[in-house]
Amino acid sequence: MEFLRTNRLKVVYTKDEYLRDIIEIEKEQNDNGFVSLWSMSKHLNSMEKNDSLHLTILDNNDKFVGYMIINFENKNMELMRINLKNRDEGYGFEIIQEIIRYAFTKTDVNRLWLDVRHINERGIYLYKKLGFVKEGELREAVLHKNKFLNVIIMSILRSEYEKNIFRYS
Ligand SMILES: CC(C)(COP(=O)(O)OP(=O)(O)OC[C@H]1O[C@@H](n2cnc3c(N)ncnc32)[C@H](O)[C@@H]1OP(=O)(O)O)[C@@H](O)C(=O)NCCC(=O)NCCS
Repeated sequence: MEFLRTNRLKVVYTKDEYLRDIIEIEKEQNDNGFVSLWSMSKHLNSMEKNDSLHLTILDNNDKFVGYMIINFENKNMELMRINLKNRDEGYGFEIIQEIIRYAFTKTDVNRLWLDVRHINERGIYLYKKLGFVKEGELREAVLHKNKFLNVIIMSILRSEYEKNIFRYS
């Protein structure tokens, strides 16, 4: 079932058949230190949770592009995970811009937030470009290959979305 659509992409609720592709790119990006690795059963649990959205991103030919996991709590929406197979093609910008619009036009959340590891220069650049504001940095919060990585928290508030609405339309 379709969740949302952009010019080049469609976002659907994750089905079991996509989990093989999801785990494969998750392994790759876990190795790079950008995302943590979940077991199949953790993904399956998240697909069933009422306060989470486990979403698969497809291109217009239904080819697997990536996935996202979104959580809702206390008028906050967390873009907990986004992981794309095809990078640097503008898909991240396209899809996250649509997620921002969704958050502030289709739900009543006050804050859309995410965390990103400090080594993820591409992610940090893109989130800033999309209007995310750095809230702070959790020092040495994640262990990856014997090194501790800092985790940066970034967010957009509803008031910021409304003030800068032109950049999202
Ligand atoms: C992070 C991610 C979602 C971004 O999506 P994407 O489709 O690759 O991003 P886009 O192509 O829309 O934009 C990437 C931008 O970063 C820039 N960029 C690429 N590498 C960069 C780097 N090392 N440092 C800074 N900017 C960089 C690109 O030039 C582009 O900017 P521009 O369009 O202004 O020229 C995607 O790359 C991804 O899934 N990465 C692996 C997993 C991951 O890091 N997930 C996020 C965890 S928080």
